[in-house]
Amino acid sequence: MKKQTVIVTGASSGIGLEVARYFLDRGDHVIINSKTESKLKETYQKLGAGENLAMVVGDVADKLTGEALVKTALEKFGSVDVLVNNAGIYDNKPFLEVTEEYLDQFLNTNLKGTFFTSQAVIPQMIKQRDGVIINIGTPLVDHAIAQSPSTAPISSKGAIHALTRQLAAEFGKDNIRVNTVAPGLIRTPMHNETIDNNSGVHLITRIGEPAEVAQMIHAIAKNKFVSGAIINVDGGMGAGHNV
Ligand SMILES: NC(=O)c1ccc[n+]([C@@H]2O[C@H](COP(=O)([O-])OP(=O)(O)OC[C@H]3O[C@@H](n4cnc5c(N)ncnc54)[C@H](OP(=O)(O)O)[C@@H]3O)[C@@H](O)[C@H]2O)c1
Repeated sequence: MKKQTVIVTGASSGIGLEVARYFLDRGDHVIINSKTESKLKETYQKLGAGENLAMVVGDVADKLTGEALVKTALEKFGSVDVLVNNAGIYDNKPFLEVTEEYLDQFLNTNLKGTFFTSQAVIPQMIKQRDGVIINIGTPLVDHAIAQSPSTAPISSKGAIHALTRQLAAEFGKDNIRVNTVAPGLIRTPMHNETIDNNSGVHLITRIGEPAEVAQMIHAIAKNKFVSGAIINVDGGMGAGHNV
């Protein structure tokens, strides 16, 4: 299988770290990104600091970060084949307490990060007439839970689901595929140690692991006929709960 050049944003922890590891272990070139330089440097070492790996520190909400990722990918590896828009934040706050400043955090990192990093890679993918963008959403967009007051992050993730379909429509003719993977509750530093108390939210009554999400992202990158899809990796949560 042809080696791909894969950009993974938010790769210093959780799902992004496992996505980077999954592609690296299978021989692809990977460029990792996150906002905090010290954490990203640590991750670069943890992933072996090899020739197949590069890093770009930066806030994805800043379009310059996407441009720097593309520049590094082209200089080091000569192509941009896969973008995984994984960098993201989540928090619960009752709707009536949400301020504009609070909402903007989610719109900036989750939506604008995905939007502008995609805008940075697409011109190169058009030149290649090949490329895939994989966004990270959530089944909660179509399946709200009252006990999870998350209007701010969910608004941003819902926009990512819509952006996925629209980009897939506009760039399908260029052989650019755009998909979203929507994970259930996954064991990452985003959650605390009580996460297992929520296992019943999934029909498969356990919490998901980052490598299970990475496996699906890898499959979508390699399968050339999946586009415009929202694919749940959620232990059946989109279908129902075991409570
Ligand atoms: N874990 C779950 O249950 C779950 C479920 C559904 C969806 N998701 C989604 O999956 C993605 C990864 O989540 P996770 O659980 O792996 O979270 P995590 O462990 O907290 O990792 C988040 C990563 O994103 C980076 N990041 C945050 N803001 C950034 C920004 N503005 N610019 C660049 N990097 C930034 C963080 O780096 P810094 O520390 O340097 O900021 C970190 O590397 C997110 O989009 C999240 O919404 C997670």
